[in-house]
Order: sequence, then structure tokens, then C-alpha cells
Amino acid sequence: MKIWLIGFMGSGKSTIGNLLASELGYPLIDTDLVISQECALSITEIFTRYGAAHFRNLEAQLIARLQEVSPCVVATGGGMPIYNTLGEGVVCYLHTDFAHLHARLLQDNTPRPLFQDIQTLHQLYLERLPIYTRIAQYRINANQPPAQVVTEILKFLAFIS
Ligand code: S3P
Repeated sequence: MKIWLIGFMGSGKSTIGNLLASELGYPLIDTDLVISQECALSITEIFTRYGAAHFRNLEAQLIARLQEVSPCVVATGGGMPIYNTLGEGVVCYLHTDFAHLHARLLQDNTPRPLFQDIQTLHQLYLERLPIYTRIAQYRINANQPPAQVVTEILKFLAFIS
């Protein structure tokens, strides 16, 4: 089984992905990490040097390559399911309210090219929320501690299999 974790930046996809992958004994594919390592550039550098469209292309290529990889847990970049169609697998949306996200992003030192100011971020959040919800088979309240989120996902996976 392939599990796609989707959600807005700062929703905890990498953290939850790590925990979930080790619980299931599956490999974790952290798409930002893979793209960054393959280009030997940070995500911000890819955006700055080559533009957002190039980054979205790299994401699309990675999704295509992942068709061959299963089982695995995929921690996606926040825009991956917005600009691309994900392949086969179970899609879990880590839903976090905006106040939580904003607080987490302020604490997190990872530079994010799309996090400029709170108004633009909020606008993007409102635009994407219905898309994440529509794509996902399962929406989880990710305001909870990571261990609890993982427990809920595991229950859901047990339920559907
Ligand atoms: C993006 C989110 C980032 C990264 C890139 C674009 C987005 O990943 O892929 O900066 O469009 O929301 P995280 O969701 O891990 O921050």
C-alpha cells in the first residue's frame, strides 16, 4: 500500500511521515528532500534559480517515478497535489487550522519560498483547503500531537484493509 500525506506547509507531513513509516516498516519518501538532494540545491534555491514551474515539473516527474514504488509513505510538498495528480494509493490530508500552521511556520527555520507574509499565506490556505479535502480519502485533525495523529491514521488504514 502507498500512503500519500498531503497538507499545507507546516502541517507536519515530514514528522508524521517518519513516525508512520517506522510504525508500518515502510520506507519514507519525503518529496522535498528527494528533489533537493537530486538537484543538490535547497527548495528555495530551485525556486529562485529556475522558477516555480520548474519545481512543479520536478514534482510531476517524481510522482511518475513513484508509481513503481510500493509499499511506502510519501510526505508530499504542500503544493504537490495542487499542481499534479497523485498516483495510486491512499491519500491522507493532515488538516491544521491556520493559527497553528502560522505558529509552527514561525518556529520552523526551514526557508519556504511561498511563505512571505501572513495575508498571502492565509489566502493560499483558503484556496487550497477545499482542494486537499476533495482529493483525500481521509482527513485527520493534525492539530493534535504527532503520535496521536499517527494512531488515527493507523486505525483508518486497518479499517480500510
Ligand atoms: C510548497 C511547500 C513546500 C515546498 C515548496 C512549495 C507549497 O513544502 O514543496 O516550498 O507550494 O506549499 P512543505 O509543505 O513541506 O513546506
